[in-house]
Amino acid sequence: MAKTILTGIKPTGHPHIGNLFGMILPAIELTKKNEDSFLFIANIHALNSVKERKALADNTHEVAAALLAFGLDPSRTTFYRQSDVPEVFELTSILMNFSPKGLMNRAHAYKALFDRDGNDDNVNMGLYTYPILMAADILIMDTDVVPVGLDQKQHIEIARDIANSFNAIYGNVLKPPVEAISEQVGTVIGLDGRKMSKSYDNVIALFESPDETAKKIMKVATDSLPPEAPKPGDTALYKLMELFPSTVDLRRRYLAGGLGYGDAKKELAAAVNEYLFEPRARFAELMSDPDAMELALAAGANKARARASKVLKRVKDAIGL
Ligand code: ADP
Ligand code: TRP
Repeated sequence: MAKTILTGIKPTGHPHIGNLFGMILPAIELTKKNEDSFLFIANIHALNSVKERKALADNTHEVAAALLAFGLDPSRTTFYRQSDVPEVFELTSILMNFSPKGLMNRAHAYKALFDRDGNDDNVNMGLYTYPILMAADILIMDTDVVPVGLDQKQHIEIARDIANSFNAIYGNVLKPPVEAISEQVGTVIGLDGRKMSKSYDNVIALFESPDETAKKIMKVATDSLPPEAPKPGDTALYKLMELFPSTVDLRRRYLAGGLGYGDAKKELAAAVNEYLFEPRARFAELMSDPDAMELALAAGANKARARASKVLKRVKDAIGL
């Protein structure tokens, strides 16, 4: 039988090329390969950290437009916003009763804050119960496989534990999911040589002007080798080049020597801007018509709710509600 795959994306900021190669493109690829796929924007998970009204709404539209701009086909994939599917929150409340506090205490995000502060006084319950909401996201669609990055593996294990605890009492009601960890997606390196991340302010945003992109690429840290010297392949600059197929010739000349860093960066900037040219145009078009995007998300929410309400009914019947 065809597998159901589902994954969620938190709308926490302007998407960058780390997000593109690490998550957006792999997620779209998976929806193309699978008949039954769900992709949603986890805006309630984002509420945990984004508490500005406009930022949350804008980020949500940006992520939705980014996915569509890079080829997500909402006629094949059920594409929706978490907050539009209230069944998820009803299931969350039910699952709370099958989720030991000890299991939450071991969750990485909570533990990291606890270890940093020496107490959990400032941990909000959204963060503490984050894995339960995520379990509900997954279990409500009878998901088989959840493609995620390594950092999310523990959350899928927790979802499986919660499903098994429920099933131990009520029989085979919830489908225990498995994770699919994308190994081939390495970490995209940022302008300063560290992991590209909003928190390090070292990103190339997907949707900025070509000039801004070029300026950022000119800032990539390099050594002081002269133009004629062969250039090293283990640097941030080279790793950025490798992401873009059209830089094959540029990379060859760069490694061979005879190409200065300044010129190499200009050529890379041109390649990046060319790669992003069409998605940027589609993104601008989508963002200029938020009503159309809302319609697409509403259609997705309808499909998602139809599935979710069936699973929720099964759960309630099992419990005797
Ligand atoms: P950031 O670190 O900029 O805050 P997020 O934590 O919001 O990014 O990441 C969103 C998604 O993008 C996650 O699935 C994550 O695995 C992926 N991602 C983020 N940065 C990178 C990167 N530098 N390389 C590969 N994937 C990344
Ligand atoms: N927690 C995930 C992240 O931070 C996003 C997410 C929320 C998710 N619910 C999910 C991913 C369900 C997969 C399945 O990236």
